[in-house]
Amino acid sequence: MYDWLNALPKAELHLHLEGSLEPELLFALAERNKIALPWNDVEALRSAYAFNNLQEFLDLYYAGANVLRHEQDFYDLTWAYLLKCKEQNVIHTEPFFDPQTHTDRGIPFEVVLRGIKQALVDGEKQLGISHGLILSFLRHLSEEEAFKTLEQAVPFRDAFIAVGLDSSEMGHPPSKFQRVFDKARSEGYLTVAHAGEEGPPEYIWEALDLLKIQRIDHGVRAIEDERLMQRIIDEQIPLTVCPLSNTKLCVFDDMRQHNILQMLERGVKVTVNSDDPAYFGGYVTENFAALHASLGMTQEQAKRLAQNSLDARLV
Ligand code: ADE
Ligand code: ZN
Repeated sequence: MYDWLNALPKAELHLHLEGSLEPELLFALAERNKIALPWNDVEALRSAYAFNNLQEFLDLYYAGANVLRHEQDFYDLTWAYLLKCKEQNVIHTEPFFDPQTHTDRGIPFEVVLRGIKQALVDGEKQLGISHGLILSFLRHLSEEEAFKTLEQAVPFRDAFIAVGLDSSEMGHPPSKFQRVFDKARSEGYLTVAHAGEEGPPEYIWEALDLLKIQRIDHGVRAIEDERLMQRIIDEQIPLTVCPLSNTKLCVFDDMRQHNILQMLERGVKVTVNSDDPAYFGGYVTENFAALHASLGMTQEQAKRLAQNSLDARLV
């Protein structure tokens, strides 16, 4: 089944490039950039990957990103992810990057963008993987800081297709960024947002009504609100679901409790994605395989999930 799932052509629509930083590359970049790490070796770092919630993960994720300093580092990070895509027959990817994670450490916006974009362009040419890049705002930071980031992005208008919203969800509702998203849409960007990962269904309503998003990232808590379920079914609004992430971050206690197949069978346009594969134990095929192992996902269901991912592309 693993090989069959691996061979299925698919798109990945929810992937944080910083979350694809494998411990081996993290250590190699630390050495190249002469950065001292608080972990003795790769195994010690990996054993720190045990999280009780989103925030515990984010603290480590931002610490890990500190080794990314130069354009080549961002290129290497992105290229390593694209090689995984090739291996797993991901034919199209729409990755996120978090510019503020880097600009707040004094890394120029264009250094981050140039490294990532060059790898994505090379990936199209050399690996045949198409892409659309998404700039994601950190929601734990202010509206003003998001506006500043958008301003930095506009001169590179054609490098991105959309803006998104990620980081600590609770206490940072989509409404906080309504004006930033209005401005982004007026600049011609499409919009997506993380909503209903840890946060309540109300945050999904806000993301739809105020941020006018094309896709909901996660969205698994939509199932708690029947009126919302009806809307996302009627309007066929895609959900980019990340099963291994949800169990690693305790959104569900166990994969057997995951609601993705229940949603699929109700007609929700759900897709399977890896979120932060280096931290959560697998890339997109491993996520499909976990659904087969724990929920009995059939080949017919896997085909529909993969087709949804191709249909839900922004580009
Ligand atoms: N940043 C990286 N992964 C994330 C996630 N799962 N939720 C919110 N922000 C993130
Ligand atoms: Zn995410």
